[in-house]
Amino acid sequence: MNIIVFDDYEQVSRAAAEIFAKVLARKPNAVLGLATGSTPLGMYRELIRRHKKEQLSFARMTTFNLDEYIGLTPDHPQSYRRFMQENLFSQIDIPPENTHVPFGNIPNEQFDSYDTFCDYYESEIAKTGGIDVQILGIGSDGHIAFNEPGTPLDSRTHVVALTEQTIRDNARFFESIHDVPRQAITMGVGTILEARKIVLLATGKNKAEAIRGAIEEQMTDQNTASALQNHPDTTMILDHAAASLLRQKK
Ligand code: PGA
Repeated sequence: MNIIVFDDYEQVSRAAAEIFAKVLARKPNAVLGLATGSTPLGMYRELIRRHKKEQLSFARMTTFNLDEYIGLTPDHPQSYRRFMQENLFSQIDIPPENTHVPFGNIPNEQFDSYDTFCDYYESEIAKTGGIDVQILGIGSDGHIAFNEPGTPLDSRTHVVALTEQTIRDNARFFESIHDVPRQAITMGVGTILEARKIVLLATGKNKAEAIRGAIEEQMTDQNTASALQNHPDTTMILDHAAASLLRQKK
């Protein structure tokens, strides 16, 4: 694993955007794996800036998001589809049909069950030839996407029950903790590990223990980010607070 530590969130965001821009420069029809949450917002802002000021084009790229809450329609203010529309897709030149975010409102007019949808999502990723670069955040419990502690490290896209810790962490986005969905649909750890390049971003003290576990402890399903130890091209971009518990200072 390649570990880079910066002073602040802005530097972390710019470094992540630079990796994505490089992949797009080399392969304009790249397949990008995208994440939601607070962490990637700065990187999305920088990609939008480059699109507007430096003609970075997303017109040929395809995206797959990691996860979605179950029980929210795509236009719900807290759905991850809506988050992506507002914070990235509507501000760049990506064709809407090239964007994929798991559905959280099944059954719907296209899918009668989550099982059918999960198989479909996996096959859509495979059809593109696989994800070229995947961006990840990390939960304070070490989750990547919504792969909570105990999720098998070879799991594929599936439905999960969110842990109390994740529900508490994400309550800040909702009016009350009672409004946070209890389940989500997520790419599995095995799905994520197939991305050719992975970039994990983490900032703040709240992530320091999860980052320490992911890097310095033995690989375990109790910290699903630790599975990245097995991936041939993972870069973790951290700020000093998120890196503060690492034994070996970078
Ligand atoms: P955050 O979430 O970026 O909002 O901290 C990260 C995650 O839960 O994966």
